[in-house]
Amino acid sequence: MSRLLLVSNRLPVTVKVEKDSVAVVRSAGGLATGLRRPHERSGGLWIGWPGDVSRLSDAQRSRVEAQLAEQRCVPLHLTSSEVNRYYEGYSNRVLWPLCHYMLDRIPRQDRDWEVYRKVNERFADLVAKQYQPGDIIWVHDYQLMLVPGLLRQRLPEARIGYFHHIPFPSSEVFRTLPRRDELLKGLLGADLVGFHTVSYVRHFSGSLLRQLGLDTDVDCITWEGRQVRVGAFPMGIDADAFDTLAREVGVLEDVASVRRGAEGQRLLLGIDRLDYTKGIPRRLLAVQRLLEREPSWRGRLRFVQVAVPSRTQVEAYATYREQVNELVGRINGQYGTVQNVPVHYLFRSFNEKQLAGLYRAADVMLVTPVRDGMNLVAKEFCAARPDDDGVLVLSEFAGAADEMRGALVVNTYDIEATADAIEQALKMPEAERRERMRGLRAQVKAHDVHWWVSHFLGRLQGLPTVSVNREKE
Ligand code: G6P
Repeated sequence: MSRLLLVSNRLPVTVKVEKDSVAVVRSAGGLATGLRRPHERSGGLWIGWPGDVSRLSDAQRSRVEAQLAEQRCVPLHLTSSEVNRYYEGYSNRVLWPLCHYMLDRIPRQDRDWEVYRKVNERFADLVAKQYQPGDIIWVHDYQLMLVPGLLRQRLPEARIGYFHHIPFPSSEVFRTLPRRDELLKGLLGADLVGFHTVSYVRHFSGSLLRQLGLDTDVDCITWEGRQVRVGAFPMGIDADAFDTLAREVGVLEDVASVRRGAEGQRLLLGIDRLDYTKGIPRRLLAVQRLLEREPSWRGRLRFVQVAVPSRTQVEAYATYREQVNELVGRINGQYGTVQNVPVHYLFRSFNEKQLAGLYRAADVMLVTPVRDGMNLVAKEFCAARPDDDGVLVLSEFAGAADEMRGALVVNTYDIEATADAIEQALKMPEAERRERMRGLRAQVKAHDVHWWVSHFLGRLQGLPTVSVNREKE
């Protein structure tokens, strides 16, 4: 029987150790959230890192392993040095800022490449060990860019897909990376390489041409006697699940209580991992600008910003957190009153039910990253609005802007224009809000995560059988 082997750095669940207690909690981020339900449906395996288990006792560890096995998760344990150099190091200090066009955040010397390569090999070894003929392997994201190539060496006949969840930058940016060629060749080990948008596909093809002299013929590249396909597959969410959740009595009670707390006020909402790509400072500045130029909004706006802790061991994230703290303090200091503050900043994780309550309570959702592969929060917001109300303000630098035509699309770098968009959203007549939201919801529902999975896997399975150049062997 053909199974689906999902391979990603992080499993959909992460082990959290706090003092003496151990919990297996849901992982944050678009990849884990998005693929969780397709994995539940597929009956296959998910191979990845379960988080740090080094401080667990043997008994705790075996309990965790049992829980993972129950969810068909195969753990790959990383040592603390691997976490530091492969995950925090090369993946999140080099590839993450590179793909988000933030070259000045990359350390001048890359010392972590070797460990990145070795951990990618460990992943390939574990996948090869789990592989049974006929299985389909689907590798995910920038932490594992070498894995398709390493798997091709180990399993020449395997059907391998790769999906890149973050932007693929212009070749002008990608070429700055000393290891650019190795990474491109790594991806070419797959039969199908997918991106969220047509621009990312173009950027990838541009890099292949510039770095490796490879031409893309429509959607096909010939590499080492094989054909590699590329394509845009915009990822969706489990729209029905969010829609159902947003109608639950418990959620509606949450909505009522949030609204009661903000009586006489309009509610702006932001929900992000606390990441410097998410544009939180600029968003705050836009809210501040609106309060500054339109005194009539003072006291009448409540901006709830949820920031989910993320990659806290990476310095850039700690600095960013301080910046956000400082800005929130500054705005609240300036426009707060004894009764009220404009910014309600919540630095913690929220479960799906709580998120659904916030989405449904909001008047305006602010999704304004400075750069984002797709951004699934924008889609969750729309799915969680069965009342057809609420306005989405969306950055043109999020992949989602290509599809979500009913949003107010803004250039996040233009604070004045973002403040204008927030005001337009706040003043939008009900009929226009509903018309836009109906269009957005139809789009999010039609192109949900199940559509995305079947679209990608259908393409992968439908490709001609892998032809390996045996003469070379
Ligand atoms: C983004 C990436 C994912 C990553 C997630 C959370 O969505 O595309 O690959 O898993 O962020 O980040 P973390 O570093 O905690 O896994």
